[in-house]
Amino acid sequence: MSAVKSIAVLTSGGDSQGMNAALRAVVRSGLFHGLDVYGVQRGYQGLLNDDLRPMDLRSVGDIIQRGGTILQTARCKEFMTLEGQQRGAEVLRARGIDGLVVIGGDGSYQGANKLSKLGIKTMGLPGTIDNDIPFTDVTIGFDTAVSIVVDAINKIRDTMSSHERSSIVEVMGRHCGDIALYAGLASGAETILVPEVTFDLNEVAERMKTNFANGKRHSIIVVAEGAAKGDDVSQKITEISGIEARVTVLGHIQRGGTPTAADRILAGRLGDFAVRQLLEGNSGKACGVVNGELTTTDIELVTSTKKAFDMDMYDLALRLSQ
Ligand code: ADP
Ligand code: F6P
Repeated sequence: MSAVKSIAVLTSGGDSQGMNAALRAVVRSGLFHGLDVYGVQRGYQGLLNDDLRPMDLRSVGDIIQRGGTILQTARCKEFMTLEGQQRGAEVLRARGIDGLVVIGGDGSYQGANKLSKLGIKTMGLPGTIDNDIPFTDVTIGFDTAVSIVVDAINKIRDTMSSHERSSIVEVMGRHCGDIALYAGLASGAETILVPEVTFDLNEVAERMKTNFANGKRHSIIVVAEGAAKGDDVSQKITEISGIEARVTVLGHIQRGGTPTAADRILAGRLGDFAVRQLLEGNSGKACGVVNGELTTTDIELVTSTKKAFDMDMYDLALRLSQ
């Protein structure tokens, strides 16, 4: 006897590559198990507008390879209010929908938690490039965003070497430095500036001067937007070191393009898992993958926990970039 008969799915907050693959998995798994499945257009705003449509197998055809989200997403201030949340729950109940899968980041999880407290069976899927969701090793979209940054740095490295310059690459990550950390490690950046670790640009500049004096022909500094502005870092570094610098702000290119195989597989596993958890009567949970194993964690705990920064990985990146 399944605990749910009809579910809805929405994508919310900053979009990420792999959201479509996750949506596809939720719809296909739900239909496989005989559920009615509805797609909510434009996140919580669409929920409040009762903008839902039934999904069938073909609704999610030919999207596994597409970045973005065919349900669109939105940021909805009204849903930050109790009245908005109550309206959202009413919309679902009026349609006989007894389960909701939310694909989004930490803010979207906050909304899912509020609906859970109003009696809606919810499951959260970590859809954000930031990788700032605890109780999962990685979020859907993170691998793709890091790959985009590494590809960009590979290109930048060539021209910086030709001109013997330093390059400051500003990447996304409002409050979390994981994109900067992992892309910096993967591309051999000499310096990685993240909000989680204090830094002194005087030290950075002095180390760069030493490296150039020892024969390095370029220097790559990756800075997370939550740590500093690339232009500010560039100005300070040039003033101190006298080495010419150029700034590249990657911006929203990190949020588009086709998801990597890793993100598609992660999305497929988590989307199917969320449906099976609802069928088994679980709710109010966030789904994740920890050491390769599918897990659920109370969404209340997830929304009240800050993801730990991996200092070992940070130290490794610096050791290897001497
Ligand atoms: P992300 O999910 O990527 O972190 P946001 O922080 O913009 O993106 O959150 C997306 C949406 O989730 C918001 O527009 C709002 O509708 C909802 N939301 C965010 N925080 C809360 C909250 N504390 N309570 C209820 N809803 C919230
Ligand atoms: O949360 C994901 C994210 O891409 C952040 O890394 C970034 O700072 C933010 O969204 C950008 O938000 P917007 O797309 O609304 O400019």
